[in-house]
Amino acid sequence: MTGLVLSAVTRAFDHPVPRTVLGGVDLTIAQGEFVSLVGPSGAGKTTLLRIIAGLDSGYGGSLAWQGARPRLGVVFQEPRLVPWLGLLDNLLLVGGPESVDRARALLGAVELGDCDSALPGQLSGGMQRRAALARALLVEPDFLILDEPLISLDAALAERMRRLLNDFWRKRRTTTLLITHNLAEAVELSTRVAILSPIERRVVADCALPPPDPRLSGDPMVAAALQDLRRMTRSWPVPDPAEAAPDRAG
Ligand SMILES: Nc1ncnc2c1ncn2[C@@H]1O[C@H](COP(=O)(O)OP(=O)(O)OP(=O)(O)O)[C@@H](O)[C@H]1O
Ligand SMILES: [Mg+2]
Repeated sequence: MTGLVLSAVTRAFDHPVPRTVLGGVDLTIAQGEFVSLVGPSGAGKTTLLRIIAGLDSGYGGSLAWQGARPRLGVVFQEPRLVPWLGLLDNLLLVGGPESVDRARALLGAVELGDCDSALPGQLSGGMQRRAALARALLVEPDFLILDEPLISLDAALAERMRRLLNDFWRKRRTTTLLITHNLAEAVELSTRVAILSPIERRVVADCALPPPDPRLSGDPMVAAALQDLRRMTRSWPVPDPAEAAPDRAG
């Protein structure tokens, strides 16, 4: 079991001015679900990720894992690669030397097959983020947390990476939490989309979707779900790349 139950999770910061970022977040993620968490910049998505990943203990409310604490795979908002190691060595740092074949295969899957020995500083931000994604998948996580992993990729590459994430999820049913600004991406990949409101500072809507097997952006159900989500978030400054790329809006 790798489910997660967050109950009335709160987080406040004192600096630079006292403020509450999370005001009582309730969110349950059952084993095998692919949940997207959407919300505008500053809503507290990464703050919640840090709490779930065990990096921040200064929160109120409760966080409970169903069953044993899972092996986590995390893609942080910044790639967090070790700068003096090549990409393959960055992956082997978490997978161990015996994982070399899988590490090479995953670098190939994220289209970095010819960058084994490249240092992170020699790569673009999008390439580093894909390397971080390969590293997270290498650990064969029970619970995968992705903080905007596809941001800054061009539309065609982002679509191929969505196919990769969907294939990985369909094969392994790894419980997944995807943080994204992109409503179309959330609807395309998820079994549920949760909306974190910057006003109420908690999850205000939870939209269940049939499993994506795979779900394509032209699917009428995708278009209807997207329309609902856009209506719910209309008053917020949610940057939705699909607005700027109507071919992806379904
Ligand atoms: N350690 C900290 N100390 C003070 N304030 C913090 C700290 N961490 C986060 N915050 C504040 O909490 C708020 C939410 O930040 P967070 O990074 O969680 O937003 P986000 O939803 O991930 O935004 P984005 O989409 O831009 O990544 C911001 O106003 C931020 O300044
Ligand atoms: Mg963030």
